[in-house]
Amino acid sequence: MADTAAPLEFTPAIEAETADVYARLQGKVSLLEWQLQAPLIHAINTLKKEMNAVILAHNYMTPEIFHGVGDYVGDSLGLAREAAKSDAQIIVQGGVHFMAETSKILAPEKTVLIPDLRAGCSLASSLTGEQVRLIKQRYPGLPVVTYVNTTADVKAETDICCTSANAVQVVEHIAAEWGVDSVILIPDQFLAKNVARQTDIKIIAWAGACEVHERFNAEDIAEVRAAHPGVVVLAHPECPPEVIAASDFTGSTTAMSDYVTHNKPKQVVLITECSMSDNVTSDAPGVEFLRPCNLCPHMKRITLQGIYDSLRFHQYEVEVDPALIPRAALAVQRMIDMPPLKTPARYDIVKARHHVDVEMIS
Ligand code: 13P
Ligand code: SF4
Repeated sequence: MADTAAPLEFTPAIEAETADVYARLQGKVSLLEWQLQAPLIHAINTLKKEMNAVILAHNYMTPEIFHGVGDYVGDSLGLAREAAKSDAQIIVQGGVHFMAETSKILAPEKTVLIPDLRAGCSLASSLTGEQVRLIKQRYPGLPVVTYVNTTADVKAETDICCTSANAVQVVEHIAAEWGVDSVILIPDQFLAKNVARQTDIKIIAWAGACEVHERFNAEDIAEVRAAHPGVVVLAHPECPPEVIAASDFTGSTTAMSDYVTHNKPKQVVLITECSMSDNVTSDAPGVEFLRPCNLCPHMKRITLQGIYDSLRFHQYEVEVDPALIPRAALAVQRMIDMPPLKTPARYDIVKARHHVDVEMIS
């Protein structure tokens, strides 16, 4: 499609209208970067209103997306809840493909756009619907819980989905409902092992992993603790169990962010994707954020320019096979309908548990 739009310029009017966003980005973008970003942010926010569109932005989006154009920002659970209840006609997913598919599954009448179709996920690509059917044959009578980081054909084979915010609760809920003491929890082996530390339910796990979180190890934490005594370490539950055991707190991306804004530790390290720290700093003045962190190459495919083009050119529309939608929607909706957690979502770090019951599917 020919691009007939006037070139975007950093005018005094745009500078004034985006000043609140710039205030939140202080220290994270240079003035030169801001002069390129501000006109895009302004143009995107104008287009959203004209088109009745919303942007659902994951916590791993870069700060100019997170603070500048996200209408709803949060973790996978929060984004799914928002997709289900949004009044907008168009959803632009500031996140990866499985998140856009989840939005489409929950709101099939809406147009769901993703700015870059290559924004995948190592967990979602580790498991197919056909493999889930084989697993069900091998473990008849056991409920299948799949992480929301899965494709629509996997969700369609699932009894209930979970996210990092509610996995323990979902596992215990479905085990009680089915009257069983074992649950299939796939595809993330580390989430499964971390959940197993929190429950007496036996967990049947798959060998998938997040390519961002599997790279952390206990030495990373030992090094940061040695260099910064007193630092508070928060780790995402997709990290290996030895990383979680060496941490002070673990929970979903939103739970980690809430921990920092409520507890305001002097120094903190977020063992997760790098944009998390960049985004949380604005709401946590006085907290020093230390490294390590790792970048998710899939999340980083989503850019301001990509979002702008997505709205202008109506690209790239995410479709889900209509035959899969009712079954996949049921699995996601069952999770959304679970009663809200009474305390902020987290996994207590049970260092003393001796019996952790996990069977890997081979
Ligand atoms: P949450 O935001 O649900 O914690 O998940 C992180 C993630 O893996 C997104 O890719
Ligand atoms: Fe997938 Fe990990 Fe990237 Fe999340 S951070 S999208 S789980 S690869």
